[in-house]
Amino acid sequence: MLTNWKPDKPFIDPFCGSGTIPIEAALIGQNIAPGFNREFVSETWSWMDSKVWDEARIEAEDLADYDQYLDITGCDIDHRMVDIAKANSFEAGLGDLIEFKQMQVRDISTRKEYGVIVGNPPYGERLGEKKAVEQMYREMGQAFKKLDTWSVYMITSNPDFEQHYGKPATKKRKLFNGFIRADLYQYWGKRPPRQPQGE
Ligand SMILES: C[S@@+](CC[C@H](N)C(=O)[O-])C[C@H]1O[C@@H](n2cnc3c(N)ncnc32)[C@H](O)[C@@H]1O
Repeated sequence: MLTNWKPDKPFIDPFCGSGTIPIEAALIGQNIAPGFNREFVSETWSWMDSKVWDEARIEAEDLADYDQYLDITGCDIDHRMVDIAKANSFEAGLGDLIEFKQMQVRDISTRKEYGVIVGNPPYGERLGEKKAVEQMYREMGQAFKKLDTWSVYMITSNPDFEQHYGKPATKKRKLFNGFIRADLYQYWGKRPPRQPQGE
């Protein structure tokens, strides 16, 4: 929600893990209410009129836009995470609306334009991991250089992210991922050309 993504734009999470970010994007994209697919303890409370829940579910169903076309992809280097993300997507009721692929971030390329990349990569906080993670940030910067119409949003606690990625962020926003102090590094892509008036 802190990005400029709109449901009609392509969306990629290169570090999808269990799929949280692409799944949330798909739910937002089709305006599906959070928790629509689950039950709540209060549904069993005898003093609570079950009509309240029935009405809330009907309202949520009316507001959902299942016809909204979405182009959402989640990638991860680890094929086990890709399988888990697929299972979670089905569990969330999204079926195969999201495409999940096993892929390294450095291999991501696309001819699509004006998309949005959102990711929560490894931070390299554990001893011995830092160098490899920083190398991966460099490879990511190289791969995304070609995608100049795309906007990129990366969350990391690495204070030197911009240096490794190879580009100063358009904007930075302080965030906490649990107790870890992180930043959302924002790289805004080129804007689409304006359509001439009257055409
Ligand atoms: C912090 S986790 C992401 C958590 C995710 N947002 C979720 O909902 O589970 C980082 C993920 O990046 C993946 N990863 C690490 N190096 C990668 C690389 N070079 N290319 C793509 N994915 C990578 C890991 O396998 C891991 O699943």
